[in-house]
Amino acid sequence: MEGHAVAENQDIRSVLQEDRIFEPPAEFDSRIGGALVGSMEQYRSMHERSLEDPEGFWGEIASEFHWFKPWEKVVEWSAPDCRWFDGGTTNISWNCLERQIEAGHGADVALIWEGEPVGPNGPEIIELTYEQLLKQTCRLANGLKSIGVGRGDVVTIYMGMVPELAIAMLACARIGAVHSIIFGGFSAHAIADRVDDARSKVVLTCDGGWRRGSVVPLKDNVDAACEMTSHIEKVVMLRRCGNQVQLDADRDIDWHDLVSGQDDACECEHMESEDMLFLLYTSGSTGKPKGIVHTTGGYMVHTATTARYVFNLVPGRNQVYWCTADIGWVTGHSYIVYGLLPNRVPTLMYEGAPNFPEEDRFWDIVQRHKVTQFYTAPTAIRAFMKWGDEHPAKHDLSSLCVLGTVGEPINPEAWMWYHKVIGAERCPIVDTWWQTETGGHMITPLPGATPTVPGSCTLPFLGIDAAIVNDKGEEQPPNIGGLLVIRKPWPSMLRGIYGDRERFIETYWSRVKGMYTAGDGARRDDRGYFWIMGRIDDVINVSGHRLGTMEVESALVSHEYVVEAAVVGMPHEIKGTGIAAFCTLGPDIEADDQLRDLLRRHVAEEIGAIAKPDMIRFTAALPKTRSGKIMRRLLRDIASGNETTQDTTTLEDFTVLAKLREQDE
Ligand code: PRX
Repeated sequence: MEGHAVAENQDIRSVLQEDRIFEPPAEFDSRIGGALVGSMEQYRSMHERSLEDPEGFWGEIASEFHWFKPWEKVVEWSAPDCRWFDGGTTNISWNCLERQIEAGHGADVALIWEGEPVGPNGPEIIELTYEQLLKQTCRLANGLKSIGVGRGDVVTIYMGMVPELAIAMLACARIGAVHSIIFGGFSAHAIADRVDDARSKVVLTCDGGWRRGSVVPLKDNVDAACEMTSHIEKVVMLRRCGNQVQLDADRDIDWHDLVSGQDDACECEHMESEDMLFLLYTSGSTGKPKGIVHTTGGYMVHTATTARYVFNLVPGRNQVYWCTADIGWVTGHSYIVYGLLPNRVPTLMYEGAPNFPEEDRFWDIVQRHKVTQFYTAPTAIRAFMKWGDEHPAKHDLSSLCVLGTVGEPINPEAWMWYHKVIGAERCPIVDTWWQTETGGHMITPLPGATPTVPGSCTLPFLGIDAAIVNDKGEEQPPNIGGLLVIRKPWPSMLRGIYGDRERFIETYWSRVKGMYTAGDGARRDDRGYFWIMGRIDDVINVSGHRLGTMEVESALVSHEYVVEAAVVGMPHEIKGTGIAAFCTLGPDIEADDQLRDLLRRHVAEEIGAIAKPDMIRFTAALPKTRSGKIMRRLLRDIASGNETTQDTTTLEDFTVLAKLREQDE
């Protein structure tokens, strides 16, 4: 692979110096009470024990969950395959719902939902207790059964951020169906590709989703996807926005018709610990997104445990936890739904945009719901910084205790702003490094224990053996960049890529023998803290969302005017990384702004609006090595040298590229 972001063995101490250290608060706010892990000594001894005796460590934690049948072995490991809690049977829906109800907490609030539109009486708010959530889950589970969904079937979910989305996940899990959630920003093509790959026959959707005052036409997109794949037999549609939709009498079912009259009790399937829980498609270095496979027992234990320690979740203390991610991404799966409900702290779900109706919407939500733990992405923080301090200043944010960030490296300026303006210099920031593949947090501070440094995700979570190595698997000395690997199995690790064993091994297990290669370059500093330096493959991280450069290239060349395309990342003030596309065109095609707009729209149709290039350059030829490989590193340099998104330059690039081509090799 050409153009790695990290040159191995490069001393980068001089490149990045960050000496500011922030000690954890001596005492948390009373809402949080005592820290679950209160010192570095405690963290270190727990971490040491977790690596020396993973069976004891994870076994003790797992025994706090509900199992229909206990496991026989905590972990079996033969790289790249692991089995956690093998022989045990459980159901994650039971552990999210009945477990609380049986302990006498059925009337506690499980989920708080706030809609985007703001009426004269404020926004619509729904609070569901564990009992109510269970009943709704059971009704939908019975409804799904009534249309033939059973254990092992893949149900595609393409919905907005409504409570029924969480209910749909829990209903699938309850009856042993595998859910495959597709982010509502993806296009009909993207839905069809994923449905085909998973051979999914049932799609759950909404008429539309609210986003910044407009309706995202979710049902129309599903209709278009149905034209592109023959797999879809039934579409269940929830009415949310009241927008006009087409209904197909043979295929489409109204959500309310499906659930009304259904029994509000539904027995849980006894799932094997290693039965598949969900598929989640994510981008890789080829054009085709991969279906990451997560299973039941290990994922359940890992997500709930990380959520508890990383956000210091303590039930019965009026904590309100809010993660701003969309459930269409792994962050929402693990840290809105599955990792939260077992912890009995209400999880808040917000439907819409951060700047609707005004740029202070998030802070208004924090104030009104008295949010204690807040989890968002660096791209959002950078947008808040740009919008101005007056927006958070209008609100009382004193309920906040722990602030989290995820999805991409956070630049120290954004970290400091978060710390000062949102956290009033009293809330620890947990910068959590993990991936769709890891299922849950891997490297992160613990808020009551770890001194934090802006820009570093600090130290591995309990049970995680993370390291920086070279290609031979040798650990790199401090401040030397290398590959970020995980050397021992962890409970929520991916079990494979759906239907593609070869790609699974090739992507994660072939670069360094016996170790999980994350695809990120990183280094450790003198205190052992991890610094993520970015992807080392052809994946880019746009606003914390993963996209494969080849995916965008395939979308561009699928347009009849484009002959060849190369896509690279470029620095972007808000998104972190923006998308730069270099295209060669067919004969007599005019390279102008109109064509740029056309191609942007085309990419949005092929993948989704998140994949629209920020910059498109037209060139007579792409710079290539003699062996015909596109010189991406060179394109990256060109793209970074010009941060304009106006795309005015075109032809002179060709001369630059052609000249550089002569110097090649
Ligand atoms: O490059 C890393 C970056 O996001 C990638 C994983 O993306 P995805 O699977 O979409 O999951 C995002 C949410 C977990 C990683 O390979 N990344 C994620 N968190 C961080 C990060 N980079 C730096 N710091 C982080 N905290």
